[in-house]
Amino acid sequence: MKVTVVGAGAVGATCADNIARKQICDELVLVDIKEGVAEGKAMDLMQTAQLEGFDTRIIGSTNDYSKTAGSSVAVITSGIPRKPGMTREELIGINAGIVKTVTQNILQYSPDCIIVVISNPMDTMTYLALKSSGLPKNRIIGMGGILDSARFRFYLSQAIACSPNDLQATVVGGHGDTTMIPLTRLATYCGTPVSNYLDAETLKKVAADTMVGGATLTGLLGTSAWYAPGAAGCALVEAIVRDEKKMMPCCVYLEGEYGLNDICIGVPVIIGRNGWERIVDFQLNDEEKAAMQKSADAVRNMNNVLSTLTI
Ligand code: LAC
Repeated sequence: MKVTVVGAGAVGATCADNIARKQICDELVLVDIKEGVAEGKAMDLMQTAQLEGFDTRIIGSTNDYSKTAGSSVAVITSGIPRKPGMTREELIGINAGIVKTVTQNILQYSPDCIIVVISNPMDTMTYLALKSSGLPKNRIIGMGGILDSARFRFYLSQAIACSPNDLQATVVGGHGDTTMIPLTRLATYCGTPVSNYLDAETLKKVAADTMVGGATLTGLLGTSAWYAPGAAGCALVEAIVRDEKKMMPCCVYLEGEYGLNDICIGVPVIIGRNGWERIVDFQLNDEEKAAMQKSADAVRNMNNVLSTLTI
């Protein structure tokens, strides 16, 4: 089993690190456009193999996609990250061209692979990867909701003073500061509603903090976060490779589900060997449905920008 991670920046390298430590595949290829960076990070990671006790072989490549041939999954993290004060949406002009080219390069050598998109603005990049490749919809998955849901659980766990592992909480909608929808009504602590433990005002703050979770880190770090994005990417790859059938909120192409059409946006899906295999209907209430429509409008506006770009 072979996995490729394109983009050896902080998110890509952290994702690769997680994949190797968990021995999800026997071969892992790290690709970057910057001369020597992927080879260097691959070598650095390989020097942790004995320390961490993994047998995954990690290979680095400066833009030579022939080394990625036969990958079952390819993760795209390429593009520029956002800086403090920037929205994910502002990255579209530069990242669209990169994501389109990377998708073509991957498919040239791994025509049957499943593509995971992490590059921002993620919902639009997922849509672009799907439309420009013509791949079956199940094989293109945007990773945003897994990360946003992990952040939602973090903020909930801080407010309740409990383990994030005892929480179930999902974020749907777009992966943007104003487009994501933390589903507070459906969040539970060991199967009991979180509203048993937190008042409405605290729950509102948890949701608001979740939505700007990435921006908060960008402000602190001076660049985009990487530990949680990398780990979230790895969790998705693991669910695919091990055919886990786990339910994960992911950005996928909708054809009527959740009342939406011709858009890639975050909804709960079942992940397995074939990519996303099924969309789960969370039976949103009217307020949540309205939020989903509003989120979709914003994502659609961003998708419309694609047609104004020469890529
Ligand atoms: C974040 C970026 C990776 O949310 O979108 O940290």
